[in-house]
Amino acid sequence: MIIKKNIFSAIQPTGKLTIGHYIGVLKNWLYYQNKYNCFFCIADMHALTGIKNKIKIKNNIYDLLSIILAVGINPMNCTIFLQSNIIEHIKLYWLLNCYTYIGELNRMTQFKDKIKNKNKNNNINCGLFNYPILMSSDILLYNTDYVPIGYDQIQHLELTRLIAKRINKIYSKNIFNIPKYILAKNGSKIMSLCNPYKKMSKSDINKNNIIFLLDSSIKIKNKINNALTDSQYPPKILYNKIKKPGISNLLDIFSSIKNISIYKLEKKFINFSYNKFKKELIFELILFLKKIKKNYIFFRKKKNFLKKILLNGKLKARKIAKKNILHIYKNIGINY
Ligand code: TRP
Repeated sequence: MIIKKNIFSAIQPTGKLTIGHYIGVLKNWLYYQNKYNCFFCIADMHALTGIKNKIKIKNNIYDLLSIILAVGINPMNCTIFLQSNIIEHIKLYWLLNCYTYIGELNRMTQFKDKIKNKNKNNNINCGLFNYPILMSSDILLYNTDYVPIGYDQIQHLELTRLIAKRINKIYSKNIFNIPKYILAKNGSKIMSLCNPYKKMSKSDINKNNIIFLLDSSIKIKNKINNALTDSQYPPKILYNKIKKPGISNLLDIFSSIKNISIYKLEKKFINFSYNKFKKELIFELILFLKKIKKNYIFFRKKKNFLKKILLNGKLKARKIAKKNILHIYKNIGINY
């Protein structure tokens, strides 16, 4: 029997998902679900660092789960679960806290970015600071082999590996499997439409920068039409992230939703104007997102079904988490 390797991945239920989430995360989940033993987690405890509204976080969880199902993730092939349902994450979290240094957390660029505009020390919650340790707990609890991530999470993964190796060394035993990360390819980083030098982010104030998975057809059309291209004359549909970041970004989107290589797209659109190219992209994008939206609406209405999926996921994940935390605690010398 071939034992499948373990993959761990998580998304925070922080609100509307973008085409960037689909291309960077969900599309990979689709691919991995049959090849690996996958743990797909809805990281609601991470989302608590930012959201302080009971109704909102609840709705976000059901929205995210519905989207996960809408894109074609099959809960029969993987373990989809809610982070807060598995208390063992917190059991490991405390333990890892005791082996992580403040200096290490202080260096996390995501933390530094997040607190940039905040009134220092007064309103920065400790969850934001300790967030990478919770992420390490998620990963290390399931004997994870691989974690698919985008560039912005590399530092967190390096920290996870460092903590795991440190503990293994202290106890001269491979208590933790050391996880590797898989960096998603080209299309993993979808950029802002009007400013293709920065990552598409749902929290951007300029909503024209973002394609949400549930955007209406009109919105998709307007946003793509507004997207920045370049002033090359005659216009050329070519992939070059440095010289032509706008067109390259649109090519990435096109390539990802249609599963056509960039090379083939460059050939197909060789004599196209930017307008004509955008028209084709708009057509394909609307078609693609329509399907997701239809499925989303179908699942989102079935609250009992969604609850059942989470319950099943909880039972599956908890069985493993319980066994693993016992093993970890025993090796540290606590909890007999
Ligand atoms: N921090 C991740 C993000 O915002 C989400 C996350 C939580 C995660 N736990 C994880 C990702 C474990 C990978 C592995 O994207």
